[in-house]
Amino acid sequence: PDHLLDVDDLSREDLFAVLDRAADYKQALAADEDHGDLAGKTLGMLFQKPSTRTRVSFETGMTQLGGHAVFLGEDDIHLGRGEPLKDTARTLSRYVDCVMARVFDHENCEVLAEYADVPVVNGLTDDAHPCQTLADLLTIREELGGFDDVSVTWIGDGNNVAQSFALGCALAGIDLTVVTPPEHRIDEAVVERAGELGEAPETTTDPEGKIADADVVYTDVWVSMGQEDTRDTRLERFEGFQVNEDLLAGSDARVMHCLPAHRGEEITDSVVESERSIVFDQAENRLHAQKALLATLVE
Ligand code: CP
Repeated sequence: PDHLLDVDDLSREDLFAVLDRAADYKQALAADEDHGDLAGKTLGMLFQKPSTRTRVSFETGMTQLGGHAVFLGEDDIHLGRGEPLKDTARTLSRYVDCVMARVFDHENCEVLAEYADVPVVNGLTDDAHPCQTLADLLTIREELGGFDDVSVTWIGDGNNVAQSFALGCALAGIDLTVVTPPEHRIDEAVVERAGELGEAPETTTDPEGKIADADVVYTDVWVSMGQEDTRDTRLERFEGFQVNEDLLAGSDARVMHCLPAHRGEEITDSVVESERSIVFDQAENRLHAQKALLATLVE
């Protein structure tokens, strides 16, 4: 692919190649082997929103590949003073070999990709979080040995993370159920797109019977940045959707969360800290998956 704006920019073959390469990079790092696949290359990282995992994993990944990353906060460059995104995209293309962007509006990521002459990677928009999905699939494959006969239940908000994950599950062949309050379903267009790529997820508003047989239960924040003014309404709607010991009773599912976790809201502290939690493996795998993605796009 030229860019990664969402998971469906990858074919199934591309996806598996990235995951295999990520596993190789992970093994090489553990063995302290040097590899300079992106020696002399530079990644521009454009952030409209704060980040811990995305920023640090991309920057560290570039360093480990022999390259370099430049952090571009919105207010540190002319974007914050009104320079059009299309000019920023064309200018950055004259300096860097790839742009990773975390912007609110997905259309802005599309504008960057349209005008940039280098690959553009979506580091989270309001609609999609494909880099998270790559790490999630790598984590599931490590934990369960593959994707065949794997079933995952997503519970909570049908948000950007859920939407990219649904596309990733369809490509990988994972059986996905998405349980959300009626007001927070994943976009119907995403369900349809997943159906074109593979199996569309089952969507429901009732967690009953959707946890016990799942190999993985995945949740994410209920109130993310920019949604604070609807916080009380959202918390009311998500009542009964918290991943806690009661919900998981009788299940031996692993628990996933893309982090940051809001303990006491979508998940309890005891579940995050329990043996079934693989949330920090997901966080680590951002590094390996994105190295593989960058090397694939930039080479
Ligand atoms: N999961 C994730 O994208 O984390 P950050 O917001 O810290 O980058």
